[in-house]
Amino acid sequence: MNREMIIVLDFGGQYNQLIARRVRECNVYCEVHPYTLGLEKIKEMNPKGIIFTGGPNSVYLEESPHIEKEIFDLGIPILGICYGSQLMAYTLGGKVATAPVSEYGKTEVKVDKSSVLFKNVEPTTVCWMSHTDYIAEAPEGFQATAHTPVCPIAAMECPERKLYATQFHPEVMHTVEGMKMLHDFVYDVCGCSGDWKMDSFVTTTIDALRQKIGTGKVLCALSGGVDSSVAAVLLSKAIGKQLTCVFVDHGLLRKNEGDEVEAVFGPEGPYELNFIRVNAQERFYSKLAGVEEPEQKRKIIGAEFIHVFEEEAKKIGAVDFLVQGTIYPDVIESGLGKSAVIKSHHNVGGLPDCVDFKEIVEPLRLLFKDEVRKVGLELGIPEYLVFRQPFPGPGLGIRIIGEVTAEKVRIVQDADFIYREEIAKAGVDKKLGQYFAALTNMRSVGVMGDFRTYDYAVALRAVATSDFMTAEAAEIPWEVLQKVMNRIVNEVKGVNRVFYDLTSKPPGTIEFE
Ligand code: XMP
Repeated sequence: MNREMIIVLDFGGQYNQLIARRVRECNVYCEVHPYTLGLEKIKEMNPKGIIFTGGPNSVYLEESPHIEKEIFDLGIPILGICYGSQLMAYTLGGKVATAPVSEYGKTEVKVDKSSVLFKNVEPTTVCWMSHTDYIAEAPEGFQATAHTPVCPIAAMECPERKLYATQFHPEVMHTVEGMKMLHDFVYDVCGCSGDWKMDSFVTTTIDALRQKIGTGKVLCALSGGVDSSVAAVLLSKAIGKQLTCVFVDHGLLRKNEGDEVEAVFGPEGPYELNFIRVNAQERFYSKLAGVEEPEQKRKIIGAEFIHVFEEEAKKIGAVDFLVQGTIYPDVIESGLGKSAVIKSHHNVGGLPDCVDFKEIVEPLRLLFKDEVRKVGLELGIPEYLVFRQPFPGPGLGIRIIGEVTAEKVRIVQDADFIYREEIAKAGVDKKLGQYFAALTNMRSVGVMGDFRTYDYAVALRAVATSDFMTAEAAEIPWEVLQKVMNRIVNEVKGVNRVFYDLTSKPPGTIEFE
């Protein structure tokens, strides 16, 4: 295929996928590869340009990642970023040293407007710096094209050889005009025409999946969440009935959710796939009976989920591939590995190898959530599914404090349904990262129609967050909260009080358990 491509060579920096994503935002296909990819492979891939990422090392140390000098003679445009810029300087005979003053964070950089990278940028522009080393001397034939008071070579270039370098990170949003720089590198230096869009991702991925899977059988654990839904639809377009989706209804889903998922993916829906809905409510409720401790509840739900899934997989038999809706942030988070366990996450996308599979297929592994959503829309998945707020694998099981019973599930489902309905009616849903009702384990005295009541209290939660690692309680208009409270106490039997949770994360978490 003659699609234009930029290769990102990964030197261990934090923003490597972000660079690829920014290039894709310029409508140019981009892939991240390890820096050890090798010249032969690079020539074979015939990229329009190469970007070297940042990285934590010092280029002048022997053990740090290096690159063959010949890469600079291939005639392929190269942009070095941070460590990548120092690597370019060092490899070509310049000097890299510990900077007298390190720069971290937003920094005002003065740029040379005659550089093709900066022609559309303000003469002084805010860039994101994060470095302890710097280029002390540019290699022969290079000129400095940007500087700060303490960094004389914040960018350098040798236009004749199409080599460019920036000490700062154009890919992060704190570099206010970074997208313009990347755009001009990709179009004006690399000569790309912009022949890639999300629909190209869809067609290319479908082709690649067909090739890989051949006539094999594929199994997908479908939760109805965005990632597994998009992965399932991609696979169904690629291999139709060779795909079987198993949807486990554990009885801890939101109101009507099981039926909604079935309407889209079941036999009445638009996709040609084998869909198995396992109604395992009773099984989960009986395992959870009498259990109050949150971690124990999570573990029971996770383990039971796997049992159900495994049983179904065995019934289907001889499955070659397992599909997972893993997306890029999951890949980064699982890479960290050393942080304390706050909660044992159960995610139906993250099934262990409980059944024998030849291979795991993860078609969304390189995409960010909003890119996955774009793919979802491209595939014609209904908007309400594509823009769903996250919903945890253990479901309402961790939104019911204490023991889970069918009765409590009914209460929290009905309260949550009302809350979501009113939030949508008021038009505030787009501003919220996540919002839901939970059931506290508290009962208190109230009065209704001259009678004493002794019922549960529902807690409403709404948070503003972009990364879900930290969150603030969101400000919901008072009249909306009052309306929700009124409807819940009037319409949901067993509730006589409603609280609004003001806690941020930290110290709270988003879910209650
Ligand atoms: P917490 O409660 O840890 O939640 O602040 C952060 C985000 O993760 C979601 N969450 C889960 N997602 N399996 C999941 O797939 C889980 O076990 C799980 N627990 C929490 C939570 O909804 C929020 O978006």
